[in-house]
Amino acid sequence: MAGNGTNAVRPRLKRLRWLGPAMMGAVVGWPGWVGSEPPELPPFSPRSGYEFARPETRAIQDDEFANPGLFWIERGAELWRSPAGPGERSCHSCHGAATAMAGTAATYPKIDEVVARLVNLEQRINLCRTRHVGAEPYPLESDPLLSLSAYVTRQSAGEPLRVRIDGRAREWFERGRELYRERVGQMNVACTQCHDQRVGHLLRAERISQGQINGFPAYLLRWGTVSSVHRRFQFCNEQARAEPLPIGSDDYNALQLYVAWRGTGLVVEAPAVRR
Ligand code: HEC
Ligand code: HEC
Repeated sequence: MAGNGTNAVRPRLKRLRWLGPAMMGAVVGWPGWVGSEPPELPPFSPRSGYEFARPETRAIQDDEFANPGLFWIERGAELWRSPAGPGERSCHSCHGAATAMAGTAATYPKIDEVVARLVNLEQRINLCRTRHVGAEPYPLESDPLLSLSAYVTRQSAGEPLRVRIDGRAREWFERGRELYRERVGQMNVACTQCHDQRVGHLLRAERISQGQINGFPAYLLRWGTVSSVHRRFQFCNEQARAEPLPIGSDDYNALQLYVAWRGTGLVVEAPAVRR
């Protein structure tokens, strides 16, 4: 499956970076960016959490039959076609086959023009529930929401992460960058201290990765369930004895945008399996 952690687009990113100054203002074939300036690139080579995972964890992810995340994807496929709301509409009624969502997940979080705010994929799905289906939003972190999110993300398997950080997204990005560097909690540590400065070191028998999110929503063996990016952020906060923020909060969205940007070019693994 597409989650093997290899990074097919990296050579292209390297080339872009190398040509950086010469290319300013030029029209380049960056996916989704044609006609605009190439985006700012993250300052290092991103590596998927897959590369840091134990061989037995990777084996579960790679096995189409053993990967438990696939149950969420199957459930998502069913929900995609399940009618709801007064007009008995399903996702399929408007979007057609889910393949129409190819590449979409790789661009989230994104500004929703109607609410003029940054939303992540789960929130975007809920906007369709309320705005277009006329049904109640799914509770955040609920099985149906994560199933739909995993299913939509699956349509981008193998696609490079490419969030936008320009326009209205810019201030969210700046806030995310700030949060990433902010020392919090009793341990007084920031994300960057583990995921930039201690990459490859062991922490309580776990190898610290770059904290990338290209595998999310991911199946976490420790919980026996699929987890959103925000739930994973909470867990890192808890581990560092800091007060976690609410799932779906603006600050976690800002952080998610920054972390997604940091992983620009990493391919979407759907569904990834982590410890
Ligand atoms: C004290 C060290 C530490 C701090 C601080 C920390 N993390 Fe983590 N984080 C870990 C460890 C250990 C893991 C599990 C192993 C791994 O994937 O890196 C992890 C995992 C992750 C993952 C999952 C990566 C994957 O591929 O599954 C993400 C995302 C993440 N952290 C983001 C963050 C963010 C954002 C912050 C700041 C709010 C943060 N972490 C703070 C230690 C830390
Ligand atoms: C009545 C039509 C309708 C239904 C039903 C509907 N959507 Fe949408 N969806 C839209 C429209 C229109 C947009 C474009 C943004 C907007 O206007 O809200 C959209 C946008 C999206 C996007 C963002 C696409 C992007 O490129 O960023 C996602 C993801 C999505 N829908 C998922 C779903 C899911 C999952 C369901 C089922 C729960 C669903 N939609 C049901 C009409 C619909």
